[in-house]
Amino acid sequence: MSNKVIRGRVLTFLDQPASLHDDACLTYLSDGAIAISDGLIAWVGPFNDLPAEHSQWHCDDHRPGLVMAGFIDAHTHFAQMGVIGSYGEQLLDWLETYTFNREAQFSDPQHARKIAAAFLDELVTHGVTTAAVFGTSHKGAIEALFSEADARGMRLIAGKCLMDRNAPEQICDTARSGYDDTKALIGAWHGKGRLSYAVTPRFAITSSPEQLELTGTLMREHPDCYLQTHLSENQAEIDYTAQLFPDAKDYLDVYDRFGLLGERALFGHCIHLTARERAVLAEARAVAVFCPTSNMFLGSGLFDYVGMKADKVRIALATDIGAGTSYSMLATASEAYKVCQLQHTSLNPLESFYLLTLGNARSLSLDDRIGQIAAGHEADLIVLDSQATPAMSTRMESAESLAEELFILQTLGDDRAVTATYIAGQRLK
Ligand code: GUN
Ligand code: ZN
Repeated sequence: MSNKVIRGRVLTFLDQPASLHDDACLTYLSDGAIAISDGLIAWVGPFNDLPAEHSQWHCDDHRPGLVMAGFIDAHTHFAQMGVIGSYGEQLLDWLETYTFNREAQFSDPQHARKIAAAFLDELVTHGVTTAAVFGTSHKGAIEALFSEADARGMRLIAGKCLMDRNAPEQICDTARSGYDDTKALIGAWHGKGRLSYAVTPRFAITSSPEQLELTGTLMREHPDCYLQTHLSENQAEIDYTAQLFPDAKDYLDVYDRFGLLGERALFGHCIHLTARERAVLAEARAVAVFCPTSNMFLGSGLFDYVGMKADKVRIALATDIGAGTSYSMLATASEAYKVCQLQHTSLNPLESFYLLTLGNARSLSLDDRIGQIAAGHEADLIVLDSQATPAMSTRMESAESLAEELFILQTLGDDRAVTATYIAGQRLK
């Protein structure tokens, strides 16, 4: 039994902010305490009100650090650590030139384990306590990731890629082996500790109709698993998909026909959707995952955050390593802001920090467990230092509000601004 108290400025979101001045959407304690017992939050409130039963517990005093729920990354690829910063191509050529051959290395389980460990350490360093992660097509590689996450006590969603065509043979499965491997992985890992399985057809281009059919079967057989894939990232991708599936109404319809839409379906990118596709996504309560650093890096286009929100599409925010260029969710929020600016809209800092925590927890249907600092929730917490660098310190001298502090954190901050990361109450950073 491990009990402790964390003291600091405590910020947690209660709901999606209606505006930059929405005080009701959050709770802020200028001197707060969080009592943790067995990985769960037992109590949270002003330090002065700490109940006597917790007052003898060891206290990690982080004042004046800002304690928040851990960040959540809703779409990333652990096997692409070695792909980040690969020059000069857009999506399909980037996959062919740089990505597929790197992923082929993951047929070696030892390599997969080394990178899985490095990847999870990188998440912790950046204050990311939960992520939805794509593997490669190799069963052993995603097993390595699950096993490393389990050893760290991390809540993780992940799956092996289903891909049986239009990619090099070394990284392809078959419709049958993809189904069988996924079934075995779900049996071994889904619901083990804090792990969940995401059935992961890479994207329409790399799956045959037979494979997508079996993917639909998997989702019917395991409705509590997630589904993660890519959708409408790049115009050449959309055109090729239309050639491969001439009967589909549009790109989303390819997935819809095989029964892949639903509340647990996570669609990366969603940049070039038609009005029909947006309406179908909203109706299905599926999630569009906004990956700003990736979209800028590959020149894919600008995610219409404000428009999608108005169309009532559920939205998550993510890095999409390794087309994405930063592990930092602070940097990701900063690029999301710029993507909105380029469309003459704004994403305010309260909303971006909501997205990084409770918003992404809601999008992953995990808001009853993570994303908030509340009694009964899992103690995945981070501590942020808005004066982590001389430049941040200087800028903070003129900061006048919490919202301004958050905006400075996202604009100038990175892993140096994350001074502590707790996973289920254990300090890993
Ligand atoms: N579409 C299919 N595979 C990928 C991938 O690995 N990264 C991105 N950004 N898009 C994809
Ligand atoms: Zn991706």
